[in-house]
Amino acid sequence: MNDTIRWGIVGTGGIAHRFAQALGRVEDATLAAVASRSKAAAERFGGEFNIPRRFASYEDMAAFDGIDAAYIATPHALHTPGAILMLRHGKAVLSEKPIAVNRPELDKMIAAAHAADRLLVEAMWARMVPGTQKLLELVAQGVIGQVRGIQATFSYDMRDEPKHHAFQPQYGGGSLLDVGCYALYFASWFAGAPVAEIRALADVGAKTRVDEQCAILLRHENNTLATLHSGMTCRRPSDGALFGDEGYITMARFYAPERFTLHRYDREQPEEFETPYIGNGFEEQIIAFNRCLREGRKESDLLPLAQSREIARQMDEIRRQVGVVYPQDGGEDDCASEE
Ligand SMILES: NC(=O)c1ccc[n+]([C@@H]2O[C@H](COP(=O)([O-])OP(=O)(O)OC[C@H]3O[C@@H](n4cnc5c(N)ncnc54)[C@H](OP(=O)(O)O)[C@@H]3O)[C@@H](O)[C@H]2O)c1
Repeated sequence: MNDTIRWGIVGTGGIAHRFAQALGRVEDATLAAVASRSKAAAERFGGEFNIPRRFASYEDMAAFDGIDAAYIATPHALHTPGAILMLRHGKAVLSEKPIAVNRPELDKMIAAAHAADRLLVEAMWARMVPGTQKLLELVAQGVIGQVRGIQATFSYDMRDEPKHHAFQPQYGGGSLLDVGCYALYFASWFAGAPVAEIRALADVGAKTRVDEQCAILLRHENNTLATLHSGMTCRRPSDGALFGDEGYITMARFYAPERFTLHRYDREQPEEFETPYIGNGFEEQIIAFNRCLREGRKESDLLPLAQSREIARQMDEIRRQVGVVYPQDGGEDDCASEE
């Protein structure tokens, strides 16, 4: 491994821009290549971020030996083929969320990572930001006692972009995969026990056939309840809260909070915490990935693949309950129960 980790980006859309900006602020890492479906987009993106190698196909960048790691920044359904392509060419992979559209697709990625003996991580940046780290530390210290309830809402309105891939089943569209995954992860980090029961209802678009809004109830094995919402046709504040038997914590933008408020039942005044990002919130996940790569890990210690598999299982079950089907599901229905 070189001292400087050489990255290549797959795709040149919105999130690829945010990643490239963040990478520029991370030490001992460089943006060595970008791959696009089109020469023009690769040149444009490469010019914007001063990237030396610009490829007009994902395959060409996979075959290039001048990168150590690839960041997959394509629509959901393209994460699996993109990641497998890079892994087969010996690249470590950080794949955008959700890492795959269903658990069987994720298992193909994990098999490819094992075969290549390479690192594979889901880009759940929310896990790495200082706000989540601080919340985990405080909750583990017992500042709110035992967590009994969790609430999280991530819902926006993009009805003005009806042709976007987020509305299309063939790309793994729908609010659950797009933003509901953040709420499921949030619950998994703080519930203190595995999920025992899932109930879900959704507003499935008559034309789109994807969940445009989704409401999820989780009961965990310790009876902690989580109430979660995702949406892409209804704007709501992205509030989150953790309710314990000795207090509660409230926050805006629960998935990556830069501040939150702790209320303890035995104290009069609430306590405010400030937890700013290094930059745009992506630096921490790049630093964590680079550390794993340097340590020779094949999966992240902060976001293990078993956790990605469990969230994929939950999303498969939620889609089964609300009736959202993707072509990649292939008629399989093996995800309703945990192994
Ligand atoms: N972590 C976060 O905060 C966050 C936020 C937003 C999105 N995301 C995730 O990032 C991924 C990309 O989202 P985005 O918002 O960046 O999407 P986007 O702006 O539409 O960009 C996606 C890119 O993927 C490539 N692509 C390949 N096949 C495509 C196809 N058939 N249709 C459209 N684009 C295609 C395109 O790049 P080329 O044409 O150059 O190949 C395109 O620019 C998604 O998985 C999304 O969930 C994460």
